[in-house]
Order: sequence, then structure tokens, then C-alpha cells
Amino acid sequence: MSKVKDLGLKAEGEDELSWARENMPALASIRKRFEKEKPFRGMRIAVALHLEKKTGILLETLKAGGAAVAAASCNPLTTDDRVAAALAGQMEVYAWAGENSKEYEWCLGKVLDSKPNIVIDDGCDLILMLHDKRKELLKDVRGACEETTTGVRRLRAMETDGKLKVPVIAVNDAYSKHLFDNRFGTGQSAVDAIMRATNVVLAGKRVVVVGFGWCGRGIAERMRGMGARVIVVEAAGAPLNGTESGYHRALEALYSGYDVMTMDEAARVGDIFVTATGNKHVIARRHFELMKDGAMVANAGHFDLEVDVQGLRQMAKKSRKLGPNLEEYLLGNGRRVRLLSEGRLVNLARPSGQGHPAEIMDASFSLQALSAERIAKQGGSMLPAVHDVPPQLDEMVARLVLESRGVRLDRLTKEQEHYVNSWREGT
Ligand code: ADE
Repeated sequence: MSKVKDLGLKAEGEDELSWARENMPALASIRKRFEKEKPFRGMRIAVALHLEKKTGILLETLKAGGAAVAAASCNPLTTDDRVAAALAGQMEVYAWAGENSKEYEWCLGKVLDSKPNIVIDDGCDLILMLHDKRKELLKDVRGACEETTTGVRRLRAMETDGKLKVPVIAVNDAYSKHLFDNRFGTGQSAVDAIMRATNVVLAGKRVVVVGFGWCGRGIAERMRGMGARVIVVEAAGAPLNGTESGYHRALEALYSGYDVMTMDEAARVGDIFVTATGNKHVIARRHFELMKDGAMVANAGHFDLEVDVQGLRQMAKKSRKLGPNLEEYLLGNGRRVRLLSEGRLVNLARPSGQGHPAEIMDASFSLQALSAERIAKQGGSMLPAVHDVPPQLDEMVARLVLESRGVRLDRLTKEQEHYVNSWREGT
């Protein structure tokens, strides 16, 4: 039924899962309730998420809620084969690290063969396949949830073009998601993966962060924490994210103490480049020409097109592998550019990319579990559009995470409650 790399890795995968389970207490509290209430009884859930240990705990939670789960990875490089082997005994799993694009599509197709009632996606490839190639399945789909910025952007474009046929909850856009996961999660996991892949000292290096959205903010903050000298590149004309434009982001970067410049300027001075824009070819051929010898380039955005990897390969006179996630390209000008993880999202591409820490994914996957429950209960009456996570769920996740860490908040006094809701008291 399942297809994974090696079922013999099951025991190692179980150890990995057990560590994640221990560090995801908010999700554990949701699982406890799901075990009693079975909100997904009789339902099938198709999932395309990075198939690693934290995802495994979400899948177990959905299963505990009564769902039959079929899961693939949302990226060809990000499956942890040990975890896939451990999960394959409990549910349908179609995933292995290093899938080629045909195999990747096959895995998504197998997951859709389960005839899902709910779809959980990261990047929108599964939802798109459902709409493009498997339309006959749409009638049984109550709704979907989307994990990431790139996926939500694609879904909004589908909605604008009248192509979206099911309600989708934009889990990514919940405050407790992007504030926490995109910033602190990507900040730590990108820095961690770059260090594992290269073993370089970050202190004193000029690190160029391309894109100052929530992920870019996190990377810049953590790089600075490691002693790097951070440069931020932003773009005018980037799509508005709510009220936030490239100018606002550049202004924030500047007054956070970072240097802000164009990519052409930054290309000449950077030692390490990290992209997190959600856009295409933000590091292009002309930028490679300008880079210093030995410059390192990594991408932390969802898709592998932020860096023009094909362009780099065409320009290169020679290339050689320096490590499992590191390749060196010798250019015609005699300088070498080092590319991490083939330009795929560095923080998840195995083996150096381990994904966000479990404590971070605890919040993100609590939101996923509650959003999926919402679709199970109310998807039938929701319009085929992109929906926000209801604010009560968003707040509930922040509360569950804090409670599980033993953090307590003050309560407003009656007088304060009255004051903040009234307009009479002034100077
Ligand atoms: N682990 C599983 N899914 C992830 C995601 N979207 N980002 C980072 N780590 C993850």
C-alpha cells in the first residue's frame, strides 16, 4: 500500500517521532480531545507536507481523530526516510528523499487516489493537481488547509481567476503562524541548516538576506545573533502583503540596524546569500558574475526558483560536490560560487535541513489540526474561497502553547476592561 525508501528504518523513525511527540505539548492536548470526540470519523484526509518527524505527529493526531490518512511530501528532498518508514505501518505513505519530478507527481497522485474529504497542503501542488488533473474528486472534498505563504499566494490567484472550487483555510496567515513559525522557525532552521551544510563561522561574515517578509526578518535576526553583518535586499513593486509594501519592509530593515541595498550592490560584497522572497530569480545570472570568489548561496523560500540555478549551471565551466548539501561552480571569471541544497529550501532539504524545531511546529500543526477540524465540521457551508483562520482558533493556539510552557498572563481588572472599551476618560 505505502511506498517508502526502506521499511527497515522503522525503529529509527519511531525514535525520531518519540522525540517530536515529547516536544509538541499543545498538539498533544488537541490529540487527547480528538481521541474522545473523533471529529474526522469516517473521513479521508490527503496530506502533502514535508514528511519529517513533526509532520508525523500531526498525522498521528488526525488519525487519532478518526481519519484515514494518506500522506506524501510537498518537496522531493524533504522526506525523512526513517520517519516515512515508521509512519508507513500506521497509514498510507508515498514519500522518499530524492524523488525526481515524475516520482514526486506520482506520490501526490497516489495520495489523491484515496478520494479525500479534506486536503492539507504546503505550497499548493496537491490542491492544484486536484483542480487540474483530478477534477472528478472535487465533489467529495469538503475543503482544504494551506500551510505556507507561497501556497496561499497561489490560492488567492486561483480564487481571483475563478478557478478555486473548494474552501481553503489559509493556515499560514494566522497571526500565531507567521509571527512564530515563519519568523522564529525559519530564522533558526535556516541558520542551522547553513551551518550544518558548510561548517562556516557566521560571525563577521556579510550575510545578504533577500526579502524581508516574516521569514527574512527571522533569518536576519538570527544571523545577527550569530555575529553576522547583515544586509537586507527588498524590492519596490513586490505585491502588497496586507498593508505592507517593499518600502515598509526596507524601512523596517534599515531602522532595525541592517544595511539595505539593491541586489546588484549586495552581490559584490556578500559572503553568504539567503533568499526568502517567494519570487522568481531574485538571484539571477548577472548577480553570480558580480559575486566574490567563494560566495555561498542558499534559498529558504518554498520553491527552488528564487535562485536561477539553471543559469548558474549553464554559466559554470566546472562543478564539483563539496558535501551532501553543497556544490561548487567555477565561473568563466575564475571565481567560485557555492550553492546549498541545489537551491531548494535549505532549512528542510535533507540531510542538513531538519525543518523547524518541534516546539515551533507544535503551534503551526496545532493550527492545522484545528483548521482541519473546522473544515470537517463546517466545510460544507463555506464558500469556495481562501478563508482566514478564525481569530478564536488563532488565539487558542497561542494560549495552548503558552499554557504548555507554564507561562501565565495577567488578567484585566474590571476597571481596566471598562476603560479600554469606553471613550469618556481622557486628559
Ligand atoms: N516541518 C514540517 N513542515 C515544515 C514547514 N512547513 N516548515 C518548516 N519545518 C517543517
